[in-house]
Order: sequence, then structure tokens, then C-alpha cells
Amino acid sequence: MPAFEHHVFVCHNTRPAGSPRPSCTADGKSELHARLQQLCREAGLGARVRINKSGCLDQCEHGPTVVVYPEAVWYSNVRPEDAEEIVQEHLVDGRPVERLRMAEECLNTKICPHRS
Ligand code: FES
Repeated sequence: MPAFEHHVFVCHNTRPAGSPRPSCTADGKSELHARLQQLCREAGLGARVRINKSGCLDQCEHGPTVVVYPEAVWYSNVRPEDAEEIVQEHLVDGRPVERLRMAEECLNTKICPHRS
């Protein structure tokens, strides 16, 4: 079996109410993950793209967050209705969805202006 061409991680982390940081899901469930999987199967990408649930990706203020490797493209505030665009434009056509990309100044930094 060939290696996966893309590996997609969808944060499913939950935190108790009142936590200092938000979480990407309220209950550990995500329609987004299921939708991405379904659309990949329908696009014939099942053997080439792996969609995984992940723990916290440390970009909590921008959730729900998704990251696509090997490009390391980060998406923020992703909704289930965005799944079709990610699958078609990024995973099929190879063009990241610019409107969903996380701002560079927010990624992997404790000085992100959205982080308290
Ligand atoms: S809870 Fe999703 S990135 Fe931290």
C-alpha cells in the first residue's frame, strides 16, 4: 500500500467549563471529522488521505482547528460546511483554502493576540 499523500488532523479536544483556554469541541464529537472522511471517500481519496481525530493542537483560541500535512497548512474556525472546500481545493486540487488559513502571527506563539 502506498504512503498517504496527506494526513489531516482534526482537533477533538474538550475542556471543562471555566477552563482558561477554549476547546475545539464541547463534547469530543465532531461532525467535521465525519464530513471530511465522507467527502474524501466520495472523491476517491480513501487510500491516499488519512483523516484523524487529534488531541489539542495548541491553537485553541482558533478552534475548531485542522492541520494538513505534509504541507503543515493550518486552518482555523473550521465548520462542517467548510469540509467540501478543503477536500476539493486542497486535497484534490492541491491549493490550500486561503480564507480558512490561520494567520501566521497567531500560529504556534504564546503572544498570539487572541490568547489571554
Ligand atoms: S483544543 Fe483544539 S487546538 Fe487546543
